[in-house]
Amino acid sequence: MKSETQVGIVGAGPAGLLLSQLLALHGVDSCVIECRSREYCETRVRAGVLEHGTVELLKQAGAAERLQREGLQHQGIYLRVRRKDHHINFRELTGGKTITVYAQQEVVKDLIAIRLAGGGKIEFEAEDTSVHQIEGPDPAIRYRKNGEVCEVGCQFIAGCDGFHGVSRSSIPEGALNTFDKTYPFAWLGILAKVAPSSDELVYANHERGFSLLSMRTPEISRLYLQCEPDEDVETWSDERIWSELQARLANNDGWSLKEGPIFQKGVTGMRSFVVEPMQYGRLYLAGDAAHIVPPTGAKGLNLAVADVWVLAQAFANFFHSGDHALLDRYSEICLRRIWNAQRFSWWMTSLLHRFPSDSSFDQRRQAAELDYVVNSQAASKTLAENYVGLPFEVI
Ligand code: FAD
Ligand code: DHB
Repeated sequence: MKSETQVGIVGAGPAGLLLSQLLALHGVDSCVIECRSREYCETRVRAGVLEHGTVELLKQAGAAERLQREGLQHQGIYLRVRRKDHHINFRELTGGKTITVYAQQEVVKDLIAIRLAGGGKIEFEAEDTSVHQIEGPDPAIRYRKNGEVCEVGCQFIAGCDGFHGVSRSSIPEGALNTFDKTYPFAWLGILAKVAPSSDELVYANHERGFSLLSMRTPEISRLYLQCEPDEDVETWSDERIWSELQARLANNDGWSLKEGPIFQKGVTGMRSFVVEPMQYGRLYLAGDAAHIVPPTGAKGLNLAVADVWVLAQAFANFFHSGDHALLDRYSEICLRRIWNAQRFSWWMTSLLHRFPSDSSFDQRRQAAELDYVVNSQAASKTLAENYVGLPFEVI
């Protein structure tokens, strides 16, 4: 079966779906090809913190009705250092900006619903997706569905298929520069049916390792523990998880961590990864297909959103007036934000985790840096303005 569209999009994660929605608002036709089922995409547990600009963009995209009703708006975060809490007040430090806690799979659910309601095309459960003729004017995406070979002819392909997708690996070796860093630990994340024990997120630095108290709804807590990079989740019973969280999150103010049934567990690796440029021929990469950040600071999803905001305008300029100036600058514009987010995520990771190779010098240096961050208005402000997200570049 053959079909045609203006932009063929590989991947129905936040990047691909939002790109498709923004293109529709610009009057540009697209088709999203996704290897997983709709249910799988809508239940995949990942990030949960939306920057100020991400929320504004989802509002502009008409995809924030439920987010505005159910999202939890937070004014700041707590840093828990040597059992003492320090509040970093984003609203005060950034001139009124906040963050919103709303699960990534809920963003995905909302975007799928709005795309389908608007007549958008999303092909779920596409097998063996491949991209073709990306160097010429008529690229195509091929896949199999129910045994039939399908081809979508298009003028551009957006590779929004995440870190393990086919798009980036279809680019000839040597055309991209890769920048990579892996960290000597991972995060064990859980979802538990218990009311969050804090009104805002708690990032805890502890000699046993980092831990993070987050949430999804007023009834569901999301918690993370620094663990070994190859940690076997099976060795973590619920009792062991709660006992480790209790140890690492304890403070001196009589606060207590409420426990409840754990209904999801997973290990997330920690790496920094960037390819430059984010484009080859008529294939443009966006989101995790082009870059990965360690999760500390919650930038992954927000960067994916920022990429497609630029890409949608660049495609719209091309289709409306033949102007490819923004397409030519796509990579350069996005990489400025990406490298800043890499720097920030690396810094938050270094500030809060216990590194196995750290000497006693390194540990004292980290303690001094934490003291500086919580006691200096200038340092707290730097953390705050990066956490809520730097303004989008004027393009
Ligand atoms: P993805 O969400 O990965 O979407 C890519 C889509 O492409 C998927 O639907 C996938 O099924 C599809 N796809 C892949 N290959 C193909 C193919 N060959 N053909 C067709 N479709 C394909 N970030 C945070 O900020 N905080 C967190 O706590 C956090 N936790 C994470 C936990 C995990 C396990 C992972 C993997 C990531 C986490 N992230 C987190 C990062 C954040 O979730 C990502 O940055 C975000 O999902 C990026 O969106 P995306 O649309 O670019 O990619
Ligand atoms: C969450 C994830 C993060 O990486 C983070 O820094 C804060 C919160 C979360 O999943 O809730």
